[in-house]
Amino acid sequence: MGKKVIAIDGPAGAGKSTTAKLVARKLGFLYLDTGAMYRALTLKALECGLDVNDEKELKKLAQKSVISFENKNGQNRIRLDGRDVTERIREPDVDRNVSYVSMHKGVRAILVAMQKRIGEENDLVAEGRDTTTVVFPHAFKIYLDADLTERAKRRFLELKEKGIKTTLEEQIKEISKRDKLDREREASPLLQDKDAVVLDTTHLTIEQQVDRVIQLFLEKVKSSDLKGR
Ligand code: DC
Repeated sequence: MGKKVIAIDGPAGAGKSTTAKLVARKLGFLYLDTGAMYRALTLKALECGLDVNDEKELKKLAQKSVISFENKNGQNRIRLDGRDVTERIREPDVDRNVSYVSMHKGVRAILVAMQKRIGEENDLVAEGRDTTTVVFPHAFKIYLDADLTERAKRRFLELKEKGIKTTLEEQIKEISKRDKLDREREASPLLQDKDAVVLDTTHLTIEQQVDRVIQLFLEKVKSSDLKGR
């Protein structure tokens, strides 16, 4: 029987990661963080001393890498060739290089194939730019959105909590710059998929956001069950 896939997309600061993680936990699905996979490969490339612009070598590296996810005590962990790299892939050297690694079409093709395979074996909630279009075109798709100022406010509070100094104005500038880059980039730009259910989260708490996604998904499952009879 086919596995169930919920794919979440949307602009920066709309709460994709938090929502995807919590929806997965509540439904008992795997949380597939595709960005973490590009990060893991970037880490390996850096450790091997590869040039992040060398597509041919990066493809070879991707082909011989094993990237997997596991749920440990309710926490989502990522392994690279068996090694737990969950925290390591969030460090600045990976941050700085991951967009170069993820730009190469050949590299993307290999990682997308890995993601599809994971989706064949698990019910999952997938998050990442191309998950609604390229990786899981038949998924139940949610596009999370929110006003620019609200998204900037969330990012500002998140950073403040981490002790990072910034202002709301700075975050508004930052997020609108990212919106523009995300929408205009050539490979897998940010697009609102025509099948996606759009959820405006401007006035929702994270709990309401999570419950709403689950409710929409269950309604969809129910209606397609009925249609199938
Ligand atoms: O979401 P994140 O910051 O962990 O993503 C890391 C990088 O990978 C970021 O540059 C976007 C890219 N990415 C991508 O190109 N395709 C995906 N499906 C997920 C992430």
